[in-house]
Amino acid sequence: MGDGRVAVVSGGGTGIGAAVARGLVLDGFDVLVVGRRGEVLAETATRISAECGRAGAVRPVTADLTEPGQLATVVEAVGERTVDVVVNNAGGYLGGATDTLADVAGWWRANLDANVLTAVLLTEALRPALRRPGGRVLLISSIAAQRGGGGPYSAAKAALHGWAYDLAGALGPEGITVNVVSPGYVAETEFFGDRMTPEGHAKRVDATLVGRAGVPDDIAAAVRYLAGPDAGYVTGQVLGVNGGSVLGR
Ligand SMILES: NC(=O)c1ccc[n+]([C@@H]2O[C@H](COP(=O)([O-])OP(=O)(O)OC[C@H]3O[C@@H](n4cnc5c(N)ncnc54)[C@H](OP(=O)(O)O)[C@@H]3O)[C@@H](O)[C@H]2O)c1
Repeated sequence: MGDGRVAVVSGGGTGIGAAVARGLVLDGFDVLVVGRRGEVLAETATRISAECGRAGAVRPVTADLTEPGQLATVVEAVGERTVDVVVNNAGGYLGGATDTLADVAGWWRANLDANVLTAVLLTEALRPALRRPGGRVLLISSIAAQRGGGGPYSAAKAALHGWAYDLAGALGPEGITVNVVSPGYVAETEFFGDRMTPEGHAKRVDATLVGRAGVPDDIAAAVRYLAGPDAGYVTGQVLGVNGGSVLGR
C-alpha cells in the first residue's frame, strides 16, 4: 500500500524519470508518469508496479507537455487528490538546422519548448493542487546549464535555474519548496540516442572525479532526498549530481 502521497513525474516512462518514479514508489508515493508515448508509459508503469509489489502504484498519463491544451489530461488524472511532489524531468537535446534565421528560430524554440515550457506548463497546471504546506517542486536541468554545451539546450536548462529561484520565492510562504537537480553525464537513458560513441562516453567519464558514468538511480537518489521529509529547509537550490565534472556551482 502507498501512504496516500501523490507524485507526478514528467518523462517518467524512460531513463531518469523512470528511475525517479520507481524510487518514489519505494518511498510510499502513488506516482503518475507523464509523456507523449502511451505504450512506453504503460509498460514502465506495469513493470515498476510489479517490481515494487504494489499493483497500480504507477499510472500512465499521455500528454505532450509543450501543448497547453493537453495539460487538462494530467489535471483530470490527478482529480481531487492533493499533489505532494512534481518532478519536471521531461526534456532533452533537440537537433536542428541553422541554414537560415528561420531555422535558428525553430531550433531554439524547439529546445525552449521541450525543456522550459514542459516544466512551466506542468507546474502551473498542478499549482492549485500542490500540498500547502509541504509541497515539493523539482526541476531537472543539466550540467550544460553550468558549463555550456548543446547551444539552445544549455540556455534552456539555465533558464530553469532562474525560474526556480523565482518560484521558490513565490511558493515559499505557502510552505512549498522548489529545487533543481542538475545531472552530469548519465548513461542508460534515451537522451543520447545514436549520438553517443565509445570515445564520447570515455571523454565524459574522464571528465568526472569518480571515474564513471552516472546512472539514472544517481539522479533519482537526489530527487528522493529533495522530495522527502528531511529536505524541508532546502529551497531555491541547484544540486549538481555529476561525479565532480563541474565543481561547486
Ligand atoms: N542523460 C543525461 O546524460 C542527462 C544529463 C543532464 C540532463 N539530463 C536531463 O534529464 C532529463 C531526463 O532525460 P533522460 O536522460 O532520462 O532521457 P530520456 O530517456 O530521453 O527521457 C526524456 C523523457 O522526456 C519525455 N518527454 C520529452 N518531451 C516531452 C514532451 N513534450 N511532453 C512530455 N514528455 C516529454 C520523453 O518521453 P516521450 O518521448 O514519450 O514524450 C522521455 O521519457 C531530461 O530533461 C534531460 O535533458 C539528462
